[in-house]
Amino acid sequence: MRVTIQELKEMKRRGEKIPMITAYDYTSAKLVEAAGMPLILVGDSLGNVVLGYDSTVPVTMDEMVHHVKAVVRGTRKAHIVGDMPFMSYQADTADALRNAGRLMKEGGAQSVKLEGGRPVAETVSRMVEAGIPVMGHIGLTPQSVNQLGGYKVQGKSPKAALALMEDALALERAGAYALVLESVPSALAKMVTERLSIPTIGIGGGVDCDGQVQVFHDLLGLFTDFVPKHARRYAELGNIMKEAVGQYIQDVQSLSFPTDKQSYTMDERILEGLADSIAT
Ligand code: KIV
Repeated sequence: MRVTIQELKEMKRRGEKIPMITAYDYTSAKLVEAAGMPLILVGDSLGNVVLGYDSTVPVTMDEMVHHVKAVVRGTRKAHIVGDMPFMSYQADTADALRNAGRLMKEGGAQSVKLEGGRPVAETVSRMVEAGIPVMGHIGLTPQSVNQLGGYKVQGKSPKAALALMEDALALERAGAYALVLESVPSALAKMVTERLSIPTIGIGGGVDCDGQVQVFHDLLGLFTDFVPKHARRYAELGNIMKEAVGQYIQDVQSLSFPTDKQSYTMDERILEGLADSIAT
């Protein structure tokens, strides 16, 4: 049985921090689960770090379903959250239900995540009534980058801080089981976390959130276009990969790869027979 939303809520009650990371394919999902990760987000950040778009706006439902399926195939115990891409839930509730249904039925996700506060609360409520567990996402919501005018810290003015708190409470009332707080001042994230009974998962939300989420490629040094302030590099795999591939190129060109160890043999007599039959 995979980790359930009840277990995640129980972790908050016990004061046990919830780690979460993104994954987008079979191999990385298998690795993060083997490391003990209970919660994996197939984020629409795949638009940036896997597909090379300059924002998450172009990501489609078909792309999300494709990657969710791969992550589900690579895991057995982790709870898999499928991210709902831009315009898969904003236009109307019927769209939201249909598309969340795809992530769960076709993709195999256990829950979905969507961005926004009070404007999506009614939709969240309908989804929860339909049996779809929903993780909310407020603060910096990358799908609205064109509205926000860039990737900026949110909730800093009195008005914005109050709006963020009201969004959080509305999502909780609507039945969201957890809430991502992205790029929110730590003191405000702490206050939201204390007011909610559901877990908050921070990314640039400070240490007092109930959990933390990071993008796989940021954490491991695989995405080098820029390093967000909220990311900590736990490894420089990008450099290791570049060095390894460089070594391979050198080995191919200097004939030191492949050796007999990576090659196959056959009975010499068959080869001689072949040479004879070609000659005649
Ligand atoms: O798409 C994503 O990776 C996300 C996280 C940054 C929370 O939404």
